[in-house]
Amino acid sequence: MKTVTVNASKSYNILIEKGLLSDIGYHIKNTLGTPKLCIVTDDTVGELYSKAVESSLLSCGLSFVKFVIPHGEASKNATNLISLLEFLANNRITRGDAIIALGGGVVGDLAGFAAGIYLRGIKFIQIPTTLLAAVDSSVGGKTAIDLDAGKNLAGVFHQPSLVLCDPNTLNTLSDEIFSDGCAEVIKYGIINDRELLELLKVDIKENIEAIIERCVINKARIVELDEYDNGTRQLLNLGHTIGHAIELCSGLTVSHGRAVAIGTVIATKIAISQGLCPADDLDEVINIFKSAGLPTECSYSARELAEIATTDKKRLGDSINLILPYGIGNCKPYRVDVCELESLIEKGL
Ligand SMILES: NC(=O)c1ccc[n+]([C@@H]2O[C@H](COP(=O)([O-])OP(=O)(O)OC[C@H]3O[C@@H](n4cnc5c(N)ncnc54)[C@H](O)[C@@H]3O)[C@@H](O)[C@H]2O)c1
Repeated sequence: MKTVTVNASKSYNILIEKGLLSDIGYHIKNTLGTPKLCIVTDDTVGELYSKAVESSLLSCGLSFVKFVIPHGEASKNATNLISLLEFLANNRITRGDAIIALGGGVVGDLAGFAAGIYLRGIKFIQIPTTLLAAVDSSVGGKTAIDLDAGKNLAGVFHQPSLVLCDPNTLNTLSDEIFSDGCAEVIKYGIINDRELLELLKVDIKENIEAIIERCVINKARIVELDEYDNGTRQLLNLGHTIGHAIELCSGLTVSHGRAVAIGTVIATKIAISQGLCPADDLDEVINIFKSAGLPTECSYSARELAEIATTDKKRLGDSINLILPYGIGNCKPYRVDVCELESLIEKGL
């Protein structure tokens, strides 16, 4: 079993092992004792994995209740958050009890937010079942729901007490959802881990445990330096500012991972145009995304993208920090005046 420890405001372990789902009762009991648990999952994941989780909990004498949401981003909303809080209260979940988030980033973000505010904060355990959740959203303590005005606009920082990752669960993902997660894996490589990109060249599924471990080590080290996202953690936005604009331009028909892949290629071209990144790196960046089944071409104009990117929630007054590769494995923030953003994006198309 691979174990990564995150030393943020609170320390916790991430355990990664194929088949771990059947032992989760043991690991939860080992870390938290015998709290009452509330499993939060979505209908798809619940159908596939709830039984295994439930029987492991029961075999360890752990009692639980279960709250199921419909799958998909639309469920990460205020109505489901309030329903979950009412469910916790009606089931007499106390401060000593805990929530289990069994699913992808949607379940993790919603359940984590509920855990962060119910009774002013109770413990929660992440059991990520998508590649994106395994390498990114289950680690680091960002929780959120979407508002009508935009994605992830309400949330709290609330670190999990334990992350239990069973890579076997990724076998039931569609190719599209799996490759979306690959975009986040590649992101870590381009930010600061060239060797991770070598692992991807062989066979992602073959090396999956090592790849997840490397990604969460990368995320943990960044979170430890800047848990509350005031500096270094912004590196994780590589490809995201423009990627987010692409998602919105497409009316969310281009998925997050695909948008991040295109956004990262645009960021690389911008960096090259500014003389910051060796021109040779562009082909390598494009080829890595292509080999993971991800797109690299953008069909929106610089004006359309800049209009949305300037409303990004990470805008700082009249400027915005784009994360740019100064070479593969070496990304840094690059401050841009919002009135120059359109012409800069033009250079990246
Ligand atoms: N908190 C953070 O730090 C952070 C970081 C990145 C992304 N996010 C958030 O994560 C969300 C996206 O997460 P996601 O891509 O995991 O989406 P998701 O949770 O919607 O899962 C994608 C789909 O896969 C299905 N699914 C999940 N696991 C499965 C499995 N093992 N087998 C078959 N189907 C399965 C789900 O039912 C869903 O339909 C977004 O809301 C994003 O804002 C949060």
